[in-house]
Amino acid sequence: MKKILSAILAAAVMCTSMLALAGCGGSKKGELHMATNAAFEPYEYKEGGEIVGIDAEIAKAICDKLGYTLVIDDMDFDAIITAVTSGKADFGMAGMTVTDERKKSVDFTDSYTTAIQSIIVNDGEDKVKSADDLKTATVGVQLGTTGDIYVSKFEKDGAKIERFNKGADAVLALTQKKVDAVVIDNEPAKKFVEQNKGTKILEEPFENEDYAICLKKGSELTEQFNKALKELKDDGTVKKIIDKYIKA
Ligand code: ARG
Repeated sequence: MKKILSAILAAAVMCTSMLALAGCGGSKKGELHMATNAAFEPYEYKEGGEIVGIDAEIAKAICDKLGYTLVIDDMDFDAIITAVTSGKADFGMAGMTVTDERKKSVDFTDSYTTAIQSIIVNDGEDKVKSADDLKTATVGVQLGTTGDIYVSKFEKDGAKIERFNKGADAVLALTQKKVDAVVIDNEPAKKFVEQNKGTKILEEPFENEDYAICLKKGSELTEQFNKALKELKDDGTVKKIIDKYIKA
């Protein structure tokens, strides 16, 4: 009797430790690597060595739902799509706008939020008063972003484009008057203006965009991501995460 009992006990101990190894979830499927550029508050940025923000939290919620452990890999924005197409990362999430050009190399999930391109200028400077004025200005952008793509169209009109690895570096160049304006997504633009006295956002709305997650072409994960995303939208989780970072 004693022998049987201790055998059961040993088996139970082994099971618990196996579960613990598997991450306690029971059905852990391993890691999913997310490629991002964590210099884009409120979507992804570093806080005390940790990458936080709207995208980080939505990605975590999706991975939790699907039984994966999320690992976030920080890199330059223009390296994200290559990381995904090469399989170095499982998905890319970086306040990334869906564009036809990008759709040629990756698949996108359904959109989880929208954005607008904003124009930041120095207070009291009147060189750039509207999007049209960008055509004859020196404009700072983050390399490889839609802001870069939009203003690059103005190069033929005489615009000079300065491309930076980080949005913050473009804004720094603006405060140093090395560029006349910066074109960047509206929520990060608000953060940059908050952090840089003497800058402001032009009232005029620019381009409207949809943000989505990108995955390798043909990846079976896309459908699973869409299903999880839909559930997280329907139960209010996505809205709750966005509202936590963007105060109305
Ligand atoms: N929405 C823009 C784009 O897709 C800018 C995104 C930049 N994101 C970042 N994490 N730096 O091109």
